[in-house]
Order: sequence, then structure tokens, then C-alpha cells
Amino acid sequence: MQTKPFTDKSPEKIRRMFDSIAPWYDFLNHFFSLGIDRYWRRAAVKRILSETIPEGSILDVCCGTGDLTLEFLKQTKNREYYGIDFSPEMVNIGLRKIERYKNNGIPVRLMVGDALNLPFESGSFSIVAVAFGLRNVGNTERGLREMFRVCKQDGTIAVLEFSMPERPILSTAYRFYFRSILPRIGQFLARNQSNAYHYLPESVLTFDKPKELVQRLQLLGITNIQTQPLTFGIATLIWGQKNANHSAN
Ligand SMILES: C[S@@+](CC[C@H](N)C(=O)[O-])C[C@H]1O[C@@H](n2cnc3c(N)ncnc32)[C@H](O)[C@@H]1O
Repeated sequence: MQTKPFTDKSPEKIRRMFDSIAPWYDFLNHFFSLGIDRYWRRAAVKRILSETIPEGSILDVCCGTGDLTLEFLKQTKNREYYGIDFSPEMVNIGLRKIERYKNNGIPVRLMVGDALNLPFESGSFSIVAVAFGLRNVGNTERGLREMFRVCKQDGTIAVLEFSMPERPILSTAYRFYFRSILPRIGQFLARNQSNAYHYLPESVLTFDKPKELVQRLQLLGITNIQTQPLTFGIATLIWGQKNANHSAN
């Protein structure tokens, strides 16, 4: 695979960065995306659920403050819900949100842990999904391997991630906003020493394009891979099945 410019994703740096912006994370997500990030998770969950086994546990990898887990909770019944993230501050906010959401005793477990070493047995989940998290994981391939390992045969693996719109004018305008405006406002509001809102555009611009992610999924043996660009391609959902005939783990 092509060599990319290096973005420092050492686990300690990334964890500290998310710990430090945790109190601002949800607000700034909704602010910078004009609330569209909610729609992205909602649309992604709807699409994933429409094409997967209608039962079994769901894992939200790099769950952060739990928005994807909550979306699964809203759109499903009678499942077990798990979320894992290595930033304790992000998880704490997620736990408070889950508590406020009246989920009538449905089991939801958000926990602190590493996406590169998931503390679950192989084949535990019907759906293993990650939203805006894979880009931050120190080793993309190993992260995907772990997602694949803990997914059941015929289960679904899904990645929702930022991407760049392809239409020329939109792409130029978006790059300007993303590189020049967002980091200044983000750093001003969520003052943090780890430059989180400079890291955000840098990490998106240097991360795999949707086509490259599709290749990675294919190499793992994931089948029926589909992609859905959202909002002119500012985000892309990629998902597929862990097919019994290709089971490497
Ligand atoms: C941009 S946030 C996304 C949070 C959430 N999924 C959402 O949709 O808003 C990325 C998250 O990935 C987590 N993360 C990055 N690398 C990780 C790793 N190796 N293990 C667990 N969590 C990780 C960070 O702590 C952070 O909470």
C-alpha cells in the first residue's frame, strides 16, 4: 500500500488528547458539522441494520462518548450493547449519557480498553462497528483484524469515517474550512495542549481514502463490501460481511 505522510498516532498522545478534549467533544462535533454528525451515525446504523443478522450483540469500537452505541440502542431491541475506548474521560461522558437515556434495563457496557487488543473472545458479536475512530488507531490493519476476529461468521463489520468530497469546488471550499477555520475555532474553544483541532484535519487528510479502506477489508476476507458516501462524501460508510468461507480467525 502507498506510503502516506506520517501523523503521530502514538497511543499515549492520542489517549491524552481525547481525555483533554472530552468535555468539549460532543458540543464541537455538533457545532462544526452543524449537527450533521448525528445524521451520519443515524443513517449508518439504519443501513447496517438493514443488511445484517437481526439478533446478537453489538460492539462499538472506539466508542468515545457513546453516540454510535446510543444510536444502535435507539434503532434496535433485545440486543446486548458494548462500547470500548481507551480514553477514560470520553468513556465517563458516554456512561453518563447512557444512564440518562432510559434504556429499561437493556444491558449496555461501555468500557475502557484498547482497540488493538480487544478483550473479547473471537466470534462474539453480530455487528462490530467503528465511527470516526479507526483513523486514530495507531495501527489501522491491526485494528481491523481485531474487529474481524471478534465478529461472528456472517456478522457485519462497518467503518464510518471522514472522507473528502470529490466535486472540485466543494472539495476546495471544504479543505479551506477544514484546514484553516475549524482548527482555529476548535483550539480556541477547547483549549488543549495536544493541538487536537490541528490533528483532526491532518489525520483525515493523511488517512486511507474509502477505496483504500475497501482494499484493506477485502484483504481481510470481508465480503459483500459496500460503500455509501454521506453529505457529498464528507463522510463515508463502508461495510461488509465476515464470510464463513474466508474465516482467517
Ligand atoms: C473521534 S473519536 C470518535 C468517538 C465516537 N466513536 C464518535 O462517533 O464520536 C475517536 C476515539 O477513538 C479512541 N481511540 C483511538 N485509538 C484507540 C485505541 N487504540 N483503542 C481504543 N480507543 C481508541 C479515542 O480515545 C477517541 O475516543
